[in-house]
Amino acid sequence: MSGSQRKVYVTHKIPEAGLSILRKEGCELDIGSERPSFSKEELIVALRKKPYDAVICLLTDVIDAEVFDAAPRAKIFANYAVGFNNIDVEEAKKRGITITNTPGALTEAVAEHTVALMLAISRRVVESDRFMRDGSFTGWGPELFLGEELQGKTLGILGAGRIGGRVAEIVSRGFGMKVIYYDVKQSSELEHPKAGGPGASFRATPEEVLKEADIVSLHVPLLPSTTHLINKERLALMKRGAYLINTSRGAVIDESALVDALKRGTIRGAALDVFEHEPSLASGLRELQNVVLTAHIASATALARNSMATLAAENIVAFFKGEKPQNIVSP
Ligand code: GLV
Ligand code: GLV
Repeated sequence: MSGSQRKVYVTHKIPEAGLSILRKEGCELDIGSERPSFSKEELIVALRKKPYDAVICLLTDVIDAEVFDAAPRAKIFANYAVGFNNIDVEEAKKRGITITNTPGALTEAVAEHTVALMLAISRRVVESDRFMRDGSFTGWGPELFLGEELQGKTLGILGAGRIGGRVAEIVSRGFGMKVIYYDVKQSSELEHPKAGGPGASFRATPEEVLKEADIVSLHVPLLPSTTHLINKERLALMKRGAYLINTSRGAVIDESALVDALKRGTIRGAALDVFEHEPSLASGLRELQNVVLTAHIASATALARNSMATLAAENIVAFFKGEKPQNIVSP
C-alpha cells in the first residue's frame, strides 16, 4: 500500500496498540527517548537523521518552526494528546502541515480523574492518608478531618467541551450537584443532556461562575485568552469555602497567585493534575496541606492511552492514504 516504506518518528514510546497499526501498514518506525522530557534540541537532532514522513509527538514536545525545518518531508504531526498548545499551529498552517490530536479517547478518563480530585480534596483523603502514615492517628474523633459532601453543592465549569460535559453529567447524576458553566459558546448538549437529567445552566461570564460555585473545575484549552484565566482577582471572587480543580493545563492558573490564595484562606483548597511550569511546582505549593497534587495523570488509564495511541496512528495512516484524518486540528 501507499504506506509502505514510510518513515514515522515517534518522539517517545507510546502504547503498542498504536505502534502495531503503523507497522502493519508497512511503516518504518523510529522511537525516540524513553525519558519523559526530550528537549527540542534532541528532537531536532533525531529528526535530521532520516527523511521522516510523519511524526507522533507528545504534549511535552515543543513543536515549532525549527522542528518543522528539521523534518521537511513530514507533512503530518500527530499529537498524542487532546491539548495541542505545545504545537505552533499557525506555523503548521503556513507550511500546509496537518496537525491531529486525540479527542474523545481520553474524555472518560479525564472526567473520572476530575471527580477523583473533587472527592480527594473535599473529603481530605490525601491529608488523612499522610496523617495515618505519620503515625498521628490516635483514634476516631467526632471532628477529625471534617470535609464537605458534594450532594447539593454547585459545580462551576469553565470550558464546556467533551470533558467538561462529561464531568457535569457524572456529578449531576451521581451526586445531585447543580452545574453552572461558562464557555465562549453556549452548549445545548450540556444544557439538555442526551442521557436525561437536569443539565447545566449557562452564565455569561467566568466571574459569575466563580462567585456562585462551591467547586470550580477547569476544562478550557490553553490559549492566549485562557492563560492565567484564574488569577489573583478571579480567585478573590470565589467563595471562601470553595475548591478549585484543574485537569486542563497548568498555565490556565497563575500558580503563584493560587499558592498565595491558599495560604491566606481566600479559597479552601485546590486539587491539581497540571502545573504552570511542569514538572516544577510554584514555590510553596508542595508545603500546603489544602492541596491535592497528581502527576498529570488524568488520561492515564490503559484504555485511554491505548485509544490515544490508536487514534494517533490511524490519523497518520489515513493521511498516508490520501484520506482526511478523523481528528484534524489544522489546517
Ligand atoms: C493531556 O493532558 C492531553 O491533552 O491529552
Ligand atoms: C476534550 O476532549 C474536550 O473537548 O474537552
